[in-house]
Amino acid sequence: MRTHYCGEVNQKHLEQKVIVYGWVHRRRDHGGVIFIDLRDREGLLQIVFDPDSPETFMLGESVRSEYVLSIEGVVRPRPEGTINPNMVTGEIEVLVTKAEVLNASETPPFPIESDIEVNEEMRLRYRYLDLRRTEMLNKMRFRRDITKCLRNFLDANQFYEIETPYLTKATPEGARDYIVPSRTHDDAFFALPQSPQLYKQLLMISGMDRYYQVVRCFRDEDLRADRQPEFTQLDIETSFMNQDEIMAIMEQMIRHLFAETLNESLPESFPQMTYEESMRRYGTDRPDLRIPLELVDIADEMKGVEFKVFSGPANNPLGRVAALRLPQGAKLSRKEIDGLTKFVGIYGAKGLAYIKVNDRAAGMAGLQSPILKFIPDDVVEKVLLKVGAETGDLVFFGADKTTVVNDSLGALRVKLGNDHGLIEGKWKPVWVVDFPMFERSDEKENWHAIHHPFTAPSCEREEMLENPGGALSKAYDLVLNGSEVGGGSIRIHNSEMQQTVFDLLGVGAEEAREKFGFLLDALTFGCPPHGGIAFGVDRLVMLMTDSASIRDVIAFPKTQTAACPLVNAPAPVSDKDLKELGIKLRSKPIVESTKGS
Ligand code: AMO
Ligand code: AMP
Repeated sequence: MRTHYCGEVNQKHLEQKVIVYGWVHRRRDHGGVIFIDLRDREGLLQIVFDPDSPETFMLGESVRSEYVLSIEGVVRPRPEGTINPNMVTGEIEVLVTKAEVLNASETPPFPIESDIEVNEEMRLRYRYLDLRRTEMLNKMRFRRDITKCLRNFLDANQFYEIETPYLTKATPEGARDYIVPSRTHDDAFFALPQSPQLYKQLLMISGMDRYYQVVRCFRDEDLRADRQPEFTQLDIETSFMNQDEIMAIMEQMIRHLFAETLNESLPESFPQMTYEESMRRYGTDRPDLRIPLELVDIADEMKGVEFKVFSGPANNPLGRVAALRLPQGAKLSRKEIDGLTKFVGIYGAKGLAYIKVNDRAAGMAGLQSPILKFIPDDVVEKVLLKVGAETGDLVFFGADKTTVVNDSLGALRVKLGNDHGLIEGKWKPVWVVDFPMFERSDEKENWHAIHHPFTAPSCEREEMLENPGGALSKAYDLVLNGSEVGGGSIRIHNSEMQQTVFDLLGVGAEEAREKFGFLLDALTFGCPPHGGIAFGVDRLVMLMTDSASIRDVIAFPKTQTAACPLVNAPAPVSDKDLKELGIKLRSKPIVESTKGS
């Protein structure tokens, strides 16, 4: 029986007999004495094989990297000069009295070290080895600390953890569904939940009052560095609490989390910003408030200029013309500006006009720009005043449809902030509130729900019907350092209002009944006012561990193409299984190829 984890043995255990298990991390042969760094979950321990006991010494000689050993020995101080201050167990070592090889190991395809240069596909294929690396182990441990801390907080605040089904029906959160066939229902399919949204609302109608769940959600959507097809939410719902009350307790939870796990104190009260202000100043609803750059509207100034690139969007109600000032940016080379022009092109921008302010005091003569010839001097002066331009600055301009300007200048702002070392402060949380209820890309389209169709409007039903585009919702997102870590809302708790929202979304009464009849019915049986939120656990862990990718904080993540190279999923299914499920493929499955690979 193990007495200690390797990483736990220290000076307190001097002269004691210990039994440890672990993997051979490193083996060194020092003129007749063999040293092995034995590794387990908790750390490394130096094991010494002395030639005075030939049997164990021979075993020490025979082992290789990643062999699994059982070691019994006595803790002794390391001789002077061999103490390793970088190791927790660096002052001691264990002299072996008994050793056993529990298993041998092939040479791993990459070293079990922190800084490895291995492509991710390889790491994911041998994920069980990748997870042996201290860096990954620490992330898994930290992730466990985070969920434990959140659970403790919620348990102490009378929340019940309740599980909801994975085999269910489509839940509209804006992505495609993962569909699961059902052997017992020839012509019907389950959908994996995009979130437990509807079940948690039903739990409020059941009177559970406060619910939470650390739960897997499934969304078939385009993947990015902070998105996975299956990811974990901390999903929360409460009854009889209003928006301010829910936000307050959630703030308390997040503050508690940062204090407990990172020893960081977040602000006593998180700032709030309306969606409108966030879009106007930062071009996004996930503003990174650590970056002190802002978009400034200049459409009014540009309405009358001859330069159509600017005056067109300035006079179009769906257009936007905005400036972004980069302090001390005039030193950027032509090549660097070309690079940034290419960058904004990714977001649909057709160009990136700019003015270099070489000498503000010299008037027009002190400026350098490809657009000065198109814009009257007095307009240039007004714009420079408006953005607060000073000598040495560079002012960028975006003119296009509002979405294009927001996306491109919003992304440029973040890029400039990072590339030019402008980040201020460590943690900048902000609540984004007063989202519109609906959006649509053009007049002919149906409205879409910005949050989800169960979110309550801030206005009366009649007002919402009259002007859907102007209606605001009781939705709130928690944004941290430019990442949306949580989103929630007060829900509709009245069947008529719910049907009205479905109508506006183009879901007719019949379709609404077929898809959400159970909810419309449930709302009529004494549904309490309720609301909640869901946090992206993976995103929180990613931010809190400063990881570059969401995949680094998930034990077995999917690749960018939503596949798992470790188990080779997804995989074809045999003809027999398909038949049983009543499914006929348009192309024939190749079943043999997956066998044994
Ligand atoms: P929402 O869709 O905003 O809300 O999701 C909540 C949070 O989950 C995280 N998230 C993701 N993380 C990783 N990969 C993904 N593909 C992914 N998609 C979302 C984000 C996000 O803030 N039912 C509502 C919540 C509610 O209203 O209570 C919902 O799911 O951090
Ligand atoms: P052009 O007249 O097309 O050569 O453009 C003159 C300048 O305006 C160049 O610096 C372009 O990068 C820039 N530009 C062109 N279209 C846009 C746009 N939609 N928004 C911002 N700048 C633009």
